[in-house]
Amino acid sequence: MFSTILDDDMSSKCAIVVGSGLAGLSAASQLVKHNVPVRVLERAAKPGGNSIKASSGINGAPTNFQLFAEPGDAFYSDTVLSAGKRMSSFTTERENLIKTLTEGSAGAVHWLVEERGVDLSKVAQLGGHSYARTHRGAGPPPGFAIISALMKSLKKSPLFHLQTSCTVTKVLQEKKRVIGVEYIDPNGNYEELHGPVIFASGGFGGDAKGLLAQYRPDLAGYPSTNDPRPGTQPLLTEAGAQLIDMDSVQVHPTGFVDPADPTSPLKFLAAEVLRGEGGILLLNGKRFINELNTRENVANAITSTSSTSELPRQWEVQLVLDEATYNAAKSHVDFYLFKGLMRKTTISELSVEALETFKSYAITISDNTEDPLGRKFFGNWALKEPTPESVVYVGTVTPIIHYTMGGVLINEKSEALTKDSKRIEGVWSAGEITGGIHGGNRLGGSSLLECVVFGRIAGDQCAQYLNTGK
Ligand code: FAD
Ligand code: SIN
Repeated sequence: MFSTILDDDMSSKCAIVVGSGLAGLSAASQLVKHNVPVRVLERAAKPGGNSIKASSGINGAPTNFQLFAEPGDAFYSDTVLSAGKRMSSFTTERENLIKTLTEGSAGAVHWLVEERGVDLSKVAQLGGHSYARTHRGAGPPPGFAIISALMKSLKKSPLFHLQTSCTVTKVLQEKKRVIGVEYIDPNGNYEELHGPVIFASGGFGGDAKGLLAQYRPDLAGYPSTNDPRPGTQPLLTEAGAQLIDMDSVQVHPTGFVDPADPTSPLKFLAAEVLRGEGGILLLNGKRFINELNTRENVANAITSTSSTSELPRQWEVQLVLDEATYNAAKSHVDFYLFKGLMRKTTISELSVEALETFKSYAITISDNTEDPLGRKFFGNWALKEPTPESVVYVGTVTPIIHYTMGGVLINEKSEALTKDSKRIEGVWSAGEITGGIHGGNRLGGSSLLECVVFGRIAGDQCAQYLNTGK
């Protein structure tokens, strides 16, 4: 069990955080800043959740790292557009959440860089974004870099106490006010912990037999980027919370089909940043979609064709990078090459159709003509005269279950809300466990962002509640 020291007399006035992913650690950081002792309960043996796997980066605008200044409301507009039809219900609530997210984005990036020392100096443009605003560093993948930096900082504080291998099983209430949680400790004993609670326990993308089967039975058999694990939203509905958008599940278009284990239901993500830096997608040797369309649209374009396998439900799409794109995404690609998920080869190994595709793509880019598929940003792609000998980097990818947009309805103060939109006293929620912020489709890079923005708000609010009772 991973744990740090807690003075016993502090437990009388401590805050409880459920989950040690980015939302939980962001909340804990604020609690510590406000001098509040915090106990983080984590189900897994190690901290970090899905957050530690994040591969493309965190959105922020405007920041010092963006090469192109963007209009103040562009990120807001892109998010609303991507949320789609869902915006027609709970419109004001959603607009407020999206404003909080996007207006807090630059502050979130600067907090990580300036106060926690994370390198986020590289910026790429992902699908559905009208500007490059997804930040990562030159070194380790962004999720690992961010979680490591927050853990390093938190571990310095005697106010921070992390208990791993502890599963929260129940929210404790007294006259509708949340007063703590019940959990199973590493020895299998049921324990109670008292204090206000921040739920940061993640999404239900790994809950294939439970919440996914209940809300999206049509996705049965899809592989996933999420380890199998039950969702925790029901713990909060038992305490009166309202769920929203539970059937909005994000199918990411590019999970690697590992040639060594092609039917594995758990897949490595082919980070969207590969397409953002210039990568293209081929189906039977031809491009078929603007690769920087939203995830929803790219995935739908693939799944509307015949699948190549039914269990797991898979398609065979080729993700291709030229040399210049490889160089821009080198640290990612080198890792995928090492894992055997991509290979370095030449166009001759692909198909005659593929060579023709590269030739017409080269003309589109060099003549600056309109891409017939509507792609406007070509990243670093620089293959001007493709020949059978031209070097390319290739991996086979398929759509995968990745993220759940639905969850517990919150407001801009990260307060968990009831069916009649009232605050449930003593509990806050942040990160992927929540719903409503992204509507029908989340933009790449906006989950790490929601974790930092709403996690920090939850920490501030909970500290205020402990200090003032309000
Ligand atoms: P998590 O990080 O999943 O943490 C939740 C924690 O709660 C887990 O550790 C879990 O064990 C714990 N927990 C759950 N239930 C209980 C319980 N009952 N008791 C105690 N503990 C519990 N988003 C981006 O914005 N940019 C990216 O580049 C990006 N890349 C991604 C790559 C991959 C491979 C994946 C899978 C996701 C990626 N995402 C990305 C999405 C993003 O990482 C997640 O949505 C986000 O990190 C969720 O953070 P969280 O803190 O809400 O939950
Ligand atoms: C990815 O790297 O493609 C995932 C980014 C995200 O989920 O935001």
